Amino acid sequence: MAADATILYSEDEIRRRVRDLGAAITDAYAGRSPVLVSVLKGGIVFLADLIREIRLPLRVDFMSISSYGEDAGGVVRILKDLDADVGGEDVLVVEDIIDTGLTLSYLLGTLRARRPASLEVCTLLDKSARRIPPLDVRYRGFDCPDVFVVGYGLDVDERFRNLPFILALDRPAQLLEDPGLLDGFLQVPPGPVA
Ligand code: PRP
Repeated sequence: MAADATILYSEDEIRRRVRDLGAAITDAYAGRSPVLVSVLKGGIVFLADLIREIRLPLRVDFMSISSYGEDAGGVVRILKDLDADVGGEDVLVVEDIIDTGLTLSYLLGTLRARRPASLEVCTLLDKSARRIPPLDVRYRGFDCPDVFVVGYGLDVDERFRNLPFILALDRPAQLLEDPGLLDGFLQVPPGPVA
């Protein structure tokens, strides 16, 4: 693979961290049935692996949001809300990545207003150097450097979420322009990805 698209976290590293996180969550929530809340779409790959490492009768639920970005202070619009009420439940929000933290901060405020019994956060990647509002992140896979990352749920223009590892890229567009960088991992037709 070219020097400007390097593997930041390998499949093995991710698998080991997910296993550790699952064990820690199993211990912490022993005797309880937490609701794991995933934010579409990036979090689905991590969620799917994480829940199989948690030995508890958990439930999963999903939210879909549209972010207005940093300029709007992280205000988000809920496109799909949770299916079930989380009042009185032990809620664990599962994210693929926390960057500025604005999205999560807004979501936590929304969820807290529903009066769960507890509300915690589990993220695979934490770009803590980019944090704007202070956030209490109980479970974190990796403290991620401030580079563009793709794979294992994280996309470039909705592509490449299915890579089983996480790549660091110099420029987000470079995989779209030169998908040959992924030779051996994805079958892509020659030329730029449409
Ligand atoms: C990512 C991630 C978080 C958010 C973090 O989602 O899943 O929800 O960005 O950014 P922040 O900390 O700066 O607010 P994204 O908007 O890329 O959507 P996706 O999951 O559908 O790819």
